[in-house]
Amino acid sequence: MDLKTTPEVGGMGHSIRRKEDPRFIRGKGTYVDDVQLPGMLYLDIVRSPHAHAKIVKIDTAKALAVKGVLAVITGKDLEKYNLHWMPTLMSDTQMVLPVEKVMYQAQEVAAVLATSRYAAADGAAAVEVQYDPLPVVVDPKKALEPGAPVLRTDKKDKKDNHIWHWEWGDRGATDRAFGEAAVTVKEDIYLPRIHVASIETCGCVAHFDRVNDKLTVWMTTQAPHAIRTVFALVAGHVGLAEHKIRIISPDIGGGFGGKVPVYPGYVIAVAASVLTGKPVKWIEDRMENLQADSFARDYHITAELAARKDGTLTALRIKTLADHGYTDAAANPSKFPAGLFHVCTGSYDLKAAHVEVDGAYTNKPPGGIAYRCSFRVTEAVHTIERMVDLMAHQLNIDPADFRMKNFVKPEQFPYKSALGWEYDSGNYGGALKKAMDTIGYADLRREQAEKRKRGQLMGIGISSFTEIVGAGPSKHFDILGLKMFDSCEIRVHPTGKAIARFGTKSQGQGHETTYAQILAEELGIPAKDIQVEEGDTDTAPYGLGTYASRSTPVAGAAAAVASRKVRDKARKIAAYLLEAAEDDLVWEPGKFSVKGAPGKSKTIQEIAFAAYTNHPQGMEAGLEAVSYYDPPNLTYPFGSYICVVDVDSGTGEVKVRRFVAIDDCGNIINPMIVQGQVHGGLTMGLAPALFEEISYDETGNIQGGSFIDYLLPTAVETPKWETGHTVTPSPHHPLGAKGVGESATVGAPAAIANAVVDALWHLGVRHIDIPITPAKVWKLLREKGVTE
Ligand code: CDP
Repeated sequence: MDLKTTPEVGGMGHSIRRKEDPRFIRGKGTYVDDVQLPGMLYLDIVRSPHAHAKIVKIDTAKALAVKGVLAVITGKDLEKYNLHWMPTLMSDTQMVLPVEKVMYQAQEVAAVLATSRYAAADGAAAVEVQYDPLPVVVDPKKALEPGAPVLRTDKKDKKDNHIWHWEWGDRGATDRAFGEAAVTVKEDIYLPRIHVASIETCGCVAHFDRVNDKLTVWMTTQAPHAIRTVFALVAGHVGLAEHKIRIISPDIGGGFGGKVPVYPGYVIAVAASVLTGKPVKWIEDRMENLQADSFARDYHITAELAARKDGTLTALRIKTLADHGYTDAAANPSKFPAGLFHVCTGSYDLKAAHVEVDGAYTNKPPGGIAYRCSFRVTEAVHTIERMVDLMAHQLNIDPADFRMKNFVKPEQFPYKSALGWEYDSGNYGGALKKAMDTIGYADLRREQAEKRKRGQLMGIGISSFTEIVGAGPSKHFDILGLKMFDSCEIRVHPTGKAIARFGTKSQGQGHETTYAQILAEELGIPAKDIQVEEGDTDTAPYGLGTYASRSTPVAGAAAAVASRKVRDKARKIAAYLLEAAEDDLVWEPGKFSVKGAPGKSKTIQEIAFAAYTNHPQGMEAGLEAVSYYDPPNLTYPFGSYICVVDVDSGTGEVKVRRFVAIDDCGNIINPMIVQGQVHGGLTMGLAPALFEEISYDETGNIQGGSFIDYLLPTAVETPKWETGHTVTPSPHHPLGAKGVGESATVGAPAAIANAVVDALWHLGVRHIDIPITPAKVWKLLREKGVTE
C-alpha cells in the first residue's frame, strides 16, 4: 500500500510523519530500533546462568579490551546514584542491576556500552562473572513451606516468601451455601506461566541532550506518560525533572501488556546516556524477551462450585496461589493485588462467592502482566467456564442448556455481582443462541453421539465469558497512585482540518482510524482531515495509556466528550454568524442550520474559519477542547464461543475443526477493526490452550526460553475463525461502546479446553490443564485404557 496516496486510511498520517522524521531510517521503518542518531552508543546485557546465586566477582578486564567497548556497568556503579533498585508497579522493589545476588536465570548482571552493536555483544560475552550458587525455590507451594530458603534477604524483616494475602466476598454466606448445596464440584486448575512474544521485542533509545538539559527516550511503552512520571520520581535526585523528560512511543509492534512495565534495560540506557551525554540504544533479542521480560498468568487455582439439584448454581469458592517470581511486579491497579480476578462469577447469577489469593516469591522473573487481558480476567474466565462445564457434565445437563439456565438475564442489568461489580449491560443468552445457531449445535451433538459409538473422539466446548474493561473509574483505579482516566485534546484549525491527541498509545489496534472516525461522526469533519497522534509526552495530553482494552471505553469516550465541547462552541459561533438563537439551530453532521430554514446554514469548516477570523466579541478565539475522561463505571463486553475438536486417539493430537465466536462490545466503531481484533485474539487464545507454556526445572532452568521450545501457533495450526456479533450498548459510555481488544484471548482457551474434556468425559476425564499438548492427552488416553 502506498501510504501517501491513501490519506483516507486513518492513522497512516502517523506513520508518514515518522517516516519524514530524519531520525528514522528513511523507508525502513518507524519503530524504536529504526531511530538513528549521530554518535549513538549501544548496550548489551550480561545475564545470569543461575536462578539464585551470590555474585562473587565481576571481571571486566577482557570485556574492556574488546575494540569499541567503552564501559561495563555493574550494580555497584548504579548503587552510587541509588539507581540499582527501582520500584515495581505494585510498590515492591526490583533490581536494575544486582549488587549481591541474582534471583532468576537470565537476570541482568551487568551491561556493556560500546560504539557498535557487535562490539557491545562481544563485550558482554567477555565479561566473566563468578557465582556462588544458592538453593533455588521454583515451586510456589514449596516456597511457602516452613524452612524454605527466604529469597528476599534484601528485605530486613522478611522471614518467609509470602507476599500478601487478599480476599474478597462473603465467606460466611458462601460457606453456608456450600453447606446447603445438593451438588458440589471441585477442581485444581493451573494457568501456566506464558509470555507475550510480540513481534517487536522491547527496547529504547535514550538521549540526554546536555545543551538543553533534556532527556528524550524513544521506547516501546504502552503508557508513555506514566513512564515519564515514574522516571521523574525515581531519578529526580540525579536531576531528571519531569518537564525535562520526553517519552516518545513510536509505532509499536505489539504490546499485549508486555510493554507496560519498566525493564532494567530502559533504566540502564537512560543512566548511560545521562552519564555520557550520548544517545544510547538498547534492544532486547528474542531470547532475552522470552526469558527475562514480565510473564503472564502462573495462577494455581482451587475452585469449588455449588448447585441445587435442579441445576441452579448457588455459590463459588476459590483459593489461589499466585507465583510472582522474585518480586511482585504485576501490572495491576494498586487496590487490587490479584487484579480483577474477582470478576470470576462470570456470566452467572451466583448469589454467594468468596475468593482468596496469596502471592509467593520464587526464583523466577517478575511480572504478572495482563497478557491481552484486563488484569487477571483470563484467569477468572477460565476458572468459571471450566467449573460451569464440569458442573453441567456432572449433572448430565447439556452445557448450553445449563448456561442458559444460570445466566444473568437481560432484565437484571445493571447487575450487581456477588463480588460487588456492577455489570453495565448484557444479553448472554442472545449471544449463546446466535453461536449455537451459527455452528449448528444440535446437529453437532448428534454427530458426536454417533461418533462416540464408533470409538471416535469428538468434543464440543462452550465459553460464555464476561469481560471487565475500561479502567477507571479513578475512585477505584490507580497505578502507583496515578488515577486511571484518559484524555483527548482536539484543535480545529482555521481551514477546518483538525489534530487530535490522546493519552493512549496504539500498538497496532488501529486507534488512528477509529479515533478519527469518532471525531468525524461527532464533528462532521472528514476522517482524512483529522490527524490523530498518540505517544509523545511533549504534545499529547496526560493519560494512563493503552492496555486492558481501555482505549475505547476511556479515551474513545474522551474523544466524544471533547468533540461535543467543540460542537458546543461551534454552535455559539454559528448562531452569531447566522444571526439566530442557539436553540434555533439544528445539527446534522458537518453543519448547523436554522430550524425551518435549511438553506440558512454554516458548515463546520466555515465555523472553524470564523473562530479565528470573525468570532463574536467577548468570546475567546479558536476552536479547541480537551477532555480528561473519568468513566463512571467499567464496561462489560461479553461473548459466547463454541469450539469443535477432534482428538486423535493414536497420537493425542487435538484438532480444532470449527470455532464460532460471537462477541458483543456494544456499539461498534469500526467493524473491520473489531473483526481483526477478534481474529488475532482468538489465535492468542488458541496458543496457551494448546501450545504455550514456560516452565522451569528444579534448579530454575527455563524450559521454553526460545521459539524452539516455546511454541507459537502458525497459520498451519490456526483454524478458520468464524466470527459474528450481537450489539448490547453500554448505557454509560457516550458512544454506547465497550472494549473488545482482548475478549477473544480471554474467552477462547476455556472453549477449547471444555471441548477436549467433553470429547474425553465418557472415559472418565474431568479436567486437563492447558496447554493441552498431544503428550498430555496421549498419556491420559493410555491411562483410561484407550489403546489406539
Ligand atoms: O485499548 P485497546 O485499543 O487495546 O482496546 P479497545 O478499546 O478494545 O480497541 C481495540 C480497537 O477496536 C480500537 O481500534 C477500537 O477503536 C476498536 N473498537 C471498535 O471499533 N468498536 C468497539 N466497540 C470497541 C473497539
